[in-house]
Amino acid sequence: MTEQATKTEVSVSQLRCIGCGRTALPDRFRCETCRDLLEIIYPGWDGRGPYGLGAASLKKLWLDRRSSFEPADVSGVWRFREILPEISEDKIITIREGNTPLYELPHCAQSAGIKYLFAKHQGMNPTGSFKDTGMTTAASFARAAGYKWVACASTGNTSASMAAYAARGGLHSLVLIPDGKISWGKLSQSLDYGAITCQLKTDFDGCVRVLNEVVERMPVYLLNSVNPYRVEGQKTAAFELLEQRGWEPPDHIIVPGGNLANSSAIGKALREMKELGFISRTPKISVIQAEGANPLVRSVRENGGEKLIPVHAETMATAIRIGNPASWKKALRVIRETGGTVEQVSEVEIALAKAEIGAEGVGCEPASAVTLAGLKKLVKQGFVSPNETVVLVLTGHTLKDADFTLKFHRGDLFSGTPYDEESKGLKPYQRSPLVLEPSVDAVIDLLKSAGT
Ligand code: F0G
Repeated sequence: MTEQATKTEVSVSQLRCIGCGRTALPDRFRCETCRDLLEIIYPGWDGRGPYGLGAASLKKLWLDRRSSFEPADVSGVWRFREILPEISEDKIITIREGNTPLYELPHCAQSAGIKYLFAKHQGMNPTGSFKDTGMTTAASFARAAGYKWVACASTGNTSASMAAYAARGGLHSLVLIPDGKISWGKLSQSLDYGAITCQLKTDFDGCVRVLNEVVERMPVYLLNSVNPYRVEGQKTAAFELLEQRGWEPPDHIIVPGGNLANSSAIGKALREMKELGFISRTPKISVIQAEGANPLVRSVRENGGEKLIPVHAETMATAIRIGNPASWKKALRVIRETGGTVEQVSEVEIALAKAEIGAEGVGCEPASAVTLAGLKKLVKQGFVSPNETVVLVLTGHTLKDADFTLKFHRGDLFSGTPYDEESKGLKPYQRSPLVLEPSVDAVIDLLKSAGT
């Protein structure tokens, strides 16, 4: 540690039910009284900030840690450990997650009709998705609590991440994923990292149902995003984003919505930053879903968000192919508190946005591209104005789903689907690989026809 913070006597963190508000709950995932999800609160901050440190001291402490080589300081999550539940440093499992880049996307900005567009690329984490930031915290607490086994249901990224952290921490891991409809990249990661990987003949929501019972009966620790320690780690992405912007909040943050934990985490971070005096205004957080996996959008439009309308989810953006999101209430609270909104985008809009992000030399997986596709709609509706600054949260790396990208460029992504006709407009963005004779002239002719 580059600087030792002084500890107070007060217990730093507690679990609180998001429904009935009961506090100091035992270490579970749902309230035993009302069955709602739990969240971590910090009574130990006690109006004076973590360990009595104010915003200015914390900003300096966190920046100083960037020149340290200690594992907990090198981690872009544990570098912010004052705003996380307490754990002894020898229990931390880290693969040097976080510290992800913030890129400007000038061409995508132009395409969306705004001036200032940035991408916080969480796909640049060690296993290629934002899940690592929450997995380092939850897996560390699992190990600290003495668990030998961890498990998750997943559309791919959570499983890849969990398998990696379990392996690094000497834990066994069990993965339940839908049979088919997850990318090979993600599946291959969990195999490589040594998880017991089961492909269940159901979708993600079916995998969750099975796993919830398994963890009731077996001494296995659940690492899905209902685990409040996951949310705490994922919070740090927003702290890091604000640090990268010199603590100047953007006007909008746009997040893809699946199980809806990430939007909740980013919102929680901003709420805490405001309370602790890091920022004076909060960006609007908006959540974008795929049209075929739109339970939050439907619920907001059809019943004002009173009640979740689960759907049978279908989308090529397999990471967000989720019909019954666990954290919908937390996400809705964030959207309302910050004045954000929800929107849905079509399969063709997702494919186009993904190609545009790729053409910036950045790239992302399909689920992340819903953010740009959604932004375009929000600009057209006037919800985002041309002079406002927007940050898209790109959640997964482009190599996570290379199959999607290859099919897109070969022009057969939508063949035989109802989107075949609509997808004809994507032609100018497709760059199919060219097969040539091994001749210098053939390559030179090609260069000339390309405008050299
Ligand atoms: N983007 C990617 C790349 C994802 O993998 C996920 C979720 C999301 C967005 C949505 O985030 O669930 O917090 O709203 N993936 C899950 C998984 C659920 O199992 O990997 P969310």
